[in-house]
Formats: sequence, C-alpha cells, structure tokens
Amino acid sequence: MTERVTRAYSARADEYTAVLGSMDAVHPDDRALVDAWAAGRRGPLLDAGCGPGHWTAHLARQGNRVIGIDAVPAFVEHARRTHGAVDVDIDFRVGSLDALPFGDGSVDGVLAWYSVIHHEPPRIGGPLAEFRRVLSPGGGLLLGFFEGPAVEAFDHAVVTAFRWPVPSLAALLNEAGFDVVDVHTRSAPGHRPHGAVSAVRR
Ligand SMILES: C[S@@+](CC[C@H](N)C(=O)[O-])C[C@H]1O[C@@H](n2cnc3c(N)ncnc32)[C@H](O)[C@@H]1O
Repeated sequence: MTERVTRAYSARADEYTAVLGSMDAVHPDDRALVDAWAAGRRGPLLDAGCGPGHWTAHLARQGNRVIGIDAVPAFVEHARRTHGAVDVDIDFRVGSLDALPFGDGSVDGVLAWYSVIHHEPPRIGGPLAEFRRVLSPGGGLLLGFFEGPAVEAFDHAVVTAFRWPVPSLAALLNEAGFDVVDVHTRSAPGHRPHGAVSAVRR
C-alpha cells in the first residue's frame, strides 16, 4: 500500500504542490488550530507526511524546531529547494511513517496533517504506534483527516483514501497510548467534511 501511495503522489507531485502546497491553500481555522497547538509544545516538532513542506516551513517560521518527513522524494526535493534554506534551516527527509528514522521520545509534537488518510484501516495502527514511540511522554499529536459517518474508502484525487468517524479514530488513538484532548470538525457545501483530533501521549 505504501508503495502505491508513494507512486501515486510521485506522479502528481507537481500538480499537488501547485494546488495545495502553500499556506494560502490552508483554511484559516486550520492554520489557527495548528498554530495554537504548536505554541503549546516545548520541544522539536515532526511534520509527518509533510508533502511539499509548507506546514513545516510555516511552523519553522513561527520559531519552532521542526523536521519534515515524507515518502515522496519529489516532495522532499521541492521542500528543500523552496523552504530548506530560505530564512530558516529545516531538516527535510525522505522516509516512511511506518518506520520513522527517529529515536524514542525524541520529539514533543507530531503533526500528521492528512498524512494517514491513505492507510487501510487495519494498518493505521502502524503510524500511530510510531508517532507514540517518537513522542516524549506528554508530547502532542495533531491529526487532520476526512471525517465521515463510517470508516469507508473513497476515491481521493490522488489515490484511495479513507474517511473516519471521530469516535473510531479516538478509540484507536486510545488503544495506541494517547489521550484525546480536543476534537474539531467542519463541514461546508462542496467540501468533504474535515476532522482534527489533538491527543497527548500517555
Ligand atoms: C494529502 S497529503 C498531505 C500533505 C501535507 N501534510 C499537507 O497537509 O498538504 C498526504 C501526504 O502523506 C504522505 N504519506 C502517505 N503515506 C505515507 C507513508 N506511509 N510514509 C510517508 N509519507 C506518507 C504522502 O506522500 C503525502 O505527501
């Protein structure tokens, strides 16, 4: 599955970057949510599944130490070229959310903004366990995802994705060793319902 996702994003990396790879494309409520979340973290942040790196750069410019990681080399190359040495020094790496190349307890926050949406439901525990492992105790996870009434697949523009009801995701986060502290949902005509869950590593 990871290879399929990587291939699909690699084939459309330029298009994705042009349409969604900037903070101008981010909903103002999401920006405010992520900013408030990051302001409450003390140590380094990981932008897990950073895509073109716009969130990573944004967080760095807010004064956070942040690393971006993504499976798609074209995204990481774009991120390094565009954000890596502009006015902040950001570490962008190619890597998998299912086997993060970071030590246990090495970060204080993980932003997973729409980056586990392509994991098949039985496999989403993999990245959740990795997020827990790399977070220090009390570290925060902020997940953005497509919200819906049932766990179900749909035809995302790039590759199959899954929508999640908040209680289902919250139960998995609890099983994975997180306490959910905050939930946000938003729906608007013409847009897929959005969800965000903030959780803390027990
Ligand atoms: C919908 S995009 C979101 C990108 C970015 N977070 C944003 O908000 O624009 C999903 C991203 O997750 C990455 N991704 C998905 N599964 C991954 C995995 N197993 N390991 C690393 N990256 C992954 C994809 O390559 C893609 O960049």
